Amino acid sequence: MTNVDPLWFKDAVFYELHVKAFCDSNDDGIGDFRGLIQKLDYLEWLGVTCLWLLPFFPSPLRDDGYDVSDYRGVFPDYGSLDDLRTFLQEAHRRGIRVIADLVLNHTSDQHPWFQEARRSPESPLRSFYVWSDSEKKYGKARIIFIDTERSNWTWDPVAKQYYWHRFFSHQPDLNYDNPELRKAMLEVMAFWLDQGLDGFRCDAVPYLIEREGTICENLSETHEYLKDLRKWIDERYQGRILLAEANQWPADVRPYFGDNNECHMAFHFPLMPRLFMGVRSEDWHPIVDMFTHTPAIPDECQWCLFLRNHDELTLEMCSGEERDYMYYAYARDPQMRRNIGIARRLAPLLENDRRKIELLNSLVFTLPGSPIIYYGDEIGMGDNVHLGDRNGVRTPMQWNVDRNAGFSKADPSKLYLPVITDSIYGYQTTNVEAQLQTPYSLAHWMKSMIAIRKKHPAFGRGTIEFLRPRNDKVLVYLRQYRDETLLMVQNLGGSAQAVELDLVKFAGAVPVELFGETRFPSIGDRPYMLSLAPYGYYWFKLRQAPSEETAYGIEGSVI
Ligand code: GLC
Ligand code: CA
Repeated sequence: MTNVDPLWFKDAVFYELHVKAFCDSNDDGIGDFRGLIQKLDYLEWLGVTCLWLLPFFPSPLRDDGYDVSDYRGVFPDYGSLDDLRTFLQEAHRRGIRVIADLVLNHTSDQHPWFQEARRSPESPLRSFYVWSDSEKKYGKARIIFIDTERSNWTWDPVAKQYYWHRFFSHQPDLNYDNPELRKAMLEVMAFWLDQGLDGFRCDAVPYLIEREGTICENLSETHEYLKDLRKWIDERYQGRILLAEANQWPADVRPYFGDNNECHMAFHFPLMPRLFMGVRSEDWHPIVDMFTHTPAIPDECQWCLFLRNHDELTLEMCSGEERDYMYYAYARDPQMRRNIGIARRLAPLLENDRRKIELLNSLVFTLPGSPIIYYGDEIGMGDNVHLGDRNGVRTPMQWNVDRNAGFSKADPSKLYLPVITDSIYGYQTTNVEAQLQTPYSLAHWMKSMIAIRKKHPAFGRGTIEFLRPRNDKVLVYLRQYRDETLLMVQNLGGSAQAVELDLVKFAGAVPVELFGETRFPSIGDRPYMLSLAPYGYYWFKLRQAPSEETAYGIEGSVI
């Protein structure tokens, strides 16, 4: 996409999806790029502006594609490189950008680089990976996949050495101390940017470089490398972004933005569980506290806010006590737990309570950052906790009541994963077609919320100021950008609440509720009173009104 604001990502609404899970065009049971092209009209209708595609590269699929065996291809079941190009054109034609995963940290053990590296110690590819004669090295590094891995080293009988891996043992880590490897990865990036991708979600960036005596995370050498990478992109491509996956505390994520010379964006991992804690404990403190601990970032950078993604709802950035609380509140059945986290989708986490689903979306759409929706959550899809690994949240998209939820005409036994069929979230009740036909469905509500957000730049670009009302169930903040002031008032409680707000500095302004364009009583020089329904939320724009306009109305009628 040419001639556009390089800061487009600050106003974007992201949508994460897996090609294999979206739509199957040739009825082999696996979604593909041609199927995805057919569904672009739906995504355009919804109003999302940037897609994040999960890994679609050739892979033995032992980590759903994060185990890449060829960085320059498309997994044949998902289509061809031509299909991908057509898809990019079709997405761009609709004003939708596309970023994809860049799996920097590791490859599959089936990658030809690793196959050659293990066989010949003399090969230049040997030092594409991290080898050791002893498994004692880098002993301070934690194990990330603690439910499957025992060590970060695995003995390779062919190489007759141990190789280093931060994730699954079939995913050897690449060696970023090797300039040749760095060069090879830049070429991989160039390859995809030349196809037209708008950027990358940079997988697992904290772990790129290891040093003895450290925890081998967030090292300054890793930041130096990211700076090189950013410089390289900026010199050659315009308007492309790097989005960091760094599941770390805010103070440790902050350096990934650098001086706006590393990544443009980073996920806010620690905020996510606190949104769930806030609504469950009916208390704004966990959310506001997290922002108190979030350092300012450069103006040109942006947080990416999410509720759910393709992984477990990670509780890594939680204290032991917080973790226990989250398990107690959201995953009493041990089957729902994976690694350090909860492998469930948004709707079932919130007991399919439409009010809570709206409220949590309202939070990620109005707090500072750009929101991302995980495919299917916009229609309230369910999960299947009995599927292994994190597959329970990776089932086929539910389009209609036809065979296999309209995802594929294949024999159901051929599907890459079974569709959800339970009585609440099953495709017979929860599907896109039904929701398009009902104006008050979740999908329609998501569409209007997205549209409202897009109309007000303060959501993506504004400052934030938290008010601290005495009622600790009601979370209140102001977003300001240029001459626009937005006021967000959200009831985290499951009962009706009243709140008094100190808005004296806006005396004379009229709060206009954005979903209904409804004018509320103007702000005076006394505390401003509001009442909210259970889990209710107001998005207001403060309009400076001439004095005779102080009348207010409900649905247009002046009282
Ligand atoms: C990232 C991905 C996750 C994957 C891991 C290892 O954390 O989100 O799905 O398993 O990297 O590649
Ligand atoms: Ca297919």
